Amino acid sequence: MASLHFASLLLTLLTVQLSQATRSLFTSTNDVASDNSIKWAVLVAGSRGYYNYRHQADVCHAYQILKRGGLKDENIIVFMYDDIANNTMNPRPGVIINSPNGSDVYAGVPKDYNGEYVTAANFYAVLLGNASALTGGSGKVVASKPGDKIFVFYSDHGAPGLLGMPNLPPLYANDFIEVLNTKNASGTYGEMVIYIESCESGSIFEGLLAEDMNIYVTTASNANESSWGTYCPDMTPPPPPEFHTCLGDLYSVSWMEDSDVKDLKIETLQQQYSTVKIRTLNNNSEEGSHVMQYGTQWISNKTVSVYQGAGTSNLTSNSIQSLGFMGVVDQRAADLYSMWKTYEKSTGEPQQKIELLKQIKEITMHRAHVDSSVDTIKGQLLNQEKGSARVAGSVLVDDWECLKSMIRTFETHCGSLTQYGMKHSRTFANMCNNGVTKEAMDGASKATCSSFNMGQWNPATVGYSA
Ligand SMILES: *[C@@H]1O[C@H](CO)[C@@H](O)[C@H](O)[C@H]1NC(C)=O
Ligand SMILES: *[C@@H]1O[C@H](CO)[C@@H](O)[C@H](O)[C@H]1NC(C)=O
Ligand SMILES: *[C@@H]1O[C@H](CO)[C@@H](O)[C@H](O)[C@H]1NC(C)=O
Ligand SMILES: *[C@@H]1O[C@H](CO)[C@@H](O)[C@H](O)[C@H]1NC(C)=O
Ligand SMILES: *[C@@H]1O[C@H](CO)[C@@H](O)[C@H](O)[C@H]1NC(C)=O
Ligand SMILES: *[C@@H]1O[C@H](CO)[C@@H](O)[C@H](O)[C@H]1NC(C)=O
Ligand SMILES: *[C@@H]1O[C@H](CO)[C@@H](O)[C@H](O)[C@H]1NC(C)=O
Ligand SMILES: *[C@@H]1O[C@H](CO)[C@@H](O)[C@H](O)[C@H]1NC(C)=O
Repeated sequence: MASLHFASLLLTLLTVQLSQATRSLFTSTNDVASDNSIKWAVLVAGSRGYYNYRHQADVCHAYQILKRGGLKDENIIVFMYDDIANNTMNPRPGVIINSPNGSDVYAGVPKDYNGEYVTAANFYAVLLGNASALTGGSGKVVASKPGDKIFVFYSDHGAPGLLGMPNLPPLYANDFIEVLNTKNASGTYGEMVIYIESCESGSIFEGLLAEDMNIYVTTASNANESSWGTYCPDMTPPPPPEFHTCLGDLYSVSWMEDSDVKDLKIETLQQQYSTVKIRTLNNNSEEGSHVMQYGTQWISNKTVSVYQGAGTSNLTSNSIQSLGFMGVVDQRAADLYSMWKTYEKSTGEPQQKIELLKQIKEITMHRAHVDSSVDTIKGQLLNQEKGSARVAGSVLVDDWECLKSMIRTFETHCGSLTQYGMKHSRTFANMCNNGVTKEAMDGASKATCSSFNMGQWNPATVGYSA
């Protein structure tokens, strides 16, 4: 009876303009079979390179969960550089794993936006369903209708106010939020659930995301802390010995290993959040982060299956489910850590080892140069009391164009920040918040970096971060 009633109601509604009324009707039903809404997903791995194996592994694993959950390939859109499976360093050619004893998660992953097409601009176009704004790729976009569900998962490096992309520029929070606002205004979805793993991922939403957009978000970390890579060599639990890189990230494997074993038709998003939060705190150690929630809270009352689908619950070896301490490494140190482990364990040509050590030294020196340059410039432009961060919960910066201009000015004189150096974005934001002018920034950067030889970190070659 109830479903018959629902069907006739639906029929009536379809004859009128699809409107907000439709949206609230859809959202008030919980995963009803007669609800003909479509589940969409957008998965993004925002890094590249074998030493960042884990982000693409996370995204591939997420695909397997959604696929098992019944989402169709035409509705799952994947952004990944795709340089891992066939990487000469991959000990298992053609295979990607996301946990020490895990099975292959690469099989079947759609090749939508790979290589140079993994860009913030394409991500926005896909979310907005605007195929004419795409450059390259499969052309798949979220062509969602009112009532549809959209699940977004992003795993990567990040920094205050931004998320990395394997091709510069990164995603800036204000641009992303504007895309979400536009999507909301178009009325072309019921609810959206966004999971984000990155350092300072809370800063993408804090003070920015409205609560009336039917968008529910959880992030790996708050606005001012790191997130963590896990399943790393010589840590507990370790990857198989032939892997010299981390296989996953703490928040990411926490939600996915939960989705792997729970009955998602019963488990709510709120329950998943609670489980993931505890696990990501990592036994309340300093090597953990605070999982956060933003946006439309009532959505967390829904079951996970509404957004991720629900396959046969399958306790595979993909899942560890540890609630105790996991060995982890800071996202920003994870690539160097993996390079160092590769160096230590290398049995290859001495010449290769020497080359790798040279790379490690160069990266370390560039990082030290970036850190000390930012410090010097900050000392010149911000006095101590002005330099302090804003109160928790407020938006990083009011003038995002100013932030981008500060970053570009720094890079013009001091070389690419790289994903590591983006951690200083809060310092650049504070300059904007305190009225430091572009001219002052230009002068200070020029003076600080005048004798610096950019070498391989020339933004004219590697690209600008803004
Ligand atoms: C990886 O190698 C396989 C087998 O040679 C090939 O079919 C596939 O296209 C390659 N994938 C990428 C991303 O290069
Ligand atoms: C992986 O499997 C091996 C052999 O069954 C076992 O000894 C090891 O504890 C497992 N590792 C993890 C992290 O579960
Ligand atoms: C889609 O993107 C194109 C190119 O950026 C733009 O001109 C157009 O206005 C967009 N369409 C919609 C419906 O937003
Ligand atoms: C989102 O869309 C809803 C429904 O149209 C509207 O009530 C709300 O004001 C929108 N929110 C924002 C921040 O634009
Ligand atoms: C970091 O952010 C959280 C919430 O976003 C806040 O509670 C905490 O006080 C902040 N810590 C510092 C050191 O700013
Ligand atoms: C979830 O549902 C319960 C029971 O209906 C209600 O008490 C609670 O307030 C709801 N939570 C949110 C975040 O809306
Ligand atoms: C469970 O996982 C195993 C190993 O990945 C796979 O062989 C099996 O087909 C899966 N079973 C179901 C019901 O999905
Ligand atoms: C978790 O922390 C407690 C208290 O600091 C400590 O006693 C315990 O050994 C830790 N557990 C693990 C698995 O590291």
